[in-house]
Amino acid sequence: MALTVAFVGTGKKREEKSVKGYAMAYMHAEGYAALADVEMVAACDLVEENARAFADAWGIEATFEDYQEMLAQIEPDIVSICTWPHLHETMVVDCARAGTGLIYCEKPMADTIGGARRMVQICDEEGTMLCFNHQRRYGAPFRIAKEMLDDDQIGELQRIEWGGANIYDYGSHNFDMAQYFNDETPPSSVMAQVDYHTECLWFGAHNENACLALIEYENGVQGLVAAGDVQNAIGCHNRLIGSEGMIELGSHAEGAGALRVQRFGEGGWENVDTAGEGMHAQEYINRAIADSVHAFRDGGRSMMDAHNAIHGTEAIFACWESALQRARVDVPIESEDNALNAMVEAGALDPKPEAESE
Ligand SMILES: NC(=O)c1ccc[n+]([C@@H]2O[C@H](COP(=O)([O-])OP(=O)(O)OC[C@H]3O[C@@H](n4cnc5c(N)ncnc54)[C@H](O)[C@@H]3O)[C@@H](O)[C@H]2O)c1
Repeated sequence: MALTVAFVGTGKKREEKSVKGYAMAYMHAEGYAALADVEMVAACDLVEENARAFADAWGIEATFEDYQEMLAQIEPDIVSICTWPHLHETMVVDCARAGTGLIYCEKPMADTIGGARRMVQICDEEGTMLCFNHQRRYGAPFRIAKEMLDDDQIGELQRIEWGGANIYDYGSHNFDMAQYFNDETPPSSVMAQVDYHTECLWFGAHNENACLALIEYENGVQGLVAAGDVQNAIGCHNRLIGSEGMIELGSHAEGAGALRVQRFGEGGWENVDTAGEGMHAQEYINRAIADSVHAFRDGGRSMMDAHNAIHGTEAIFACWESALQRARVDVPIESEDNALNAMVEAGALDPKPEAESE
């Protein structure tokens, strides 16, 4: 029998995607549509016309405005949650308590570290498989880089560096990639500073304008992060430094391919073939969804599992906590909160609306 899938937060498909609306549900649906043993059965959105347009696009009959009603009536095996981050915790917990078998939720996990921890704990208690859409793990440049690492092509991994737009919404992917490259080893301490002078809301959540962070992992590997206005300090998307060489993904250097390697003492950079795959692709989501659904069906575990995602999420909130405390902090941090939000609420950070700033 086919596994049934329902969607929470269909979004509205637009020509121009932005941090105010990507309609990720359509990208999830493309992933499920490629699977023979899955049937998309229901769609829910607070905005009725969004749910109807999505349902029409994917041949779904049932639409809802209230996801609790959808869970009760449809009892889907799988729920894809594609709403903004502040809604993820409540929705994941409600789905788990309603008996959903697999929840495939958009990243970032939650808007507080306590929320992220609770989601994992409650899904474990309810026997629900919880996955997050950190799809880059399924892209050729990233997978090949990991194979090169495992194959000892740059010696022993010493440092993971990354640059990106911010440490939370975009950084959720990069911190997750650090977990992938570092064999899921948890972070042990973080020292970070943030700059937040112009309001920057991605999917309704504050994201700092710049962050510089040093992360130590339990196995002695270090992480170095430069995000937002200072991201060029890294000069590539991800850099892996080993005892015998370096790997770069998404280098800003002229002529660099999606993946390149330099072996110390053996000359310059060498581009590595990635079969045309780059940093982003719908296909990565399709693979991530296929792997998660098959893990659920066969009793396995997908790389998208929340038990992997939680470690990168701990690093994100530890960066903000370190900035709040003006100290290096041990991870997991004691706080259950969101220190960036706390600093904004207390006026310690006072981001101005974009038009008012210089
Ligand atoms: N994996 C990726 O590469 C990637 C890329 C972009 C965005 N995202 C993430 O995807 C998530 C969703 O963003 P989006 O841009 O697709 O959202 P969106 O704004 O396009 O759609 C969200 C929808 O949720 C609906 N909604 C809100 N509250 C609801 C409720 N209580 N019940 C039912 N529906 C409700 C809204 O009406 C809206 O239509 C965010 O967490 C974002 O960070 C991930």
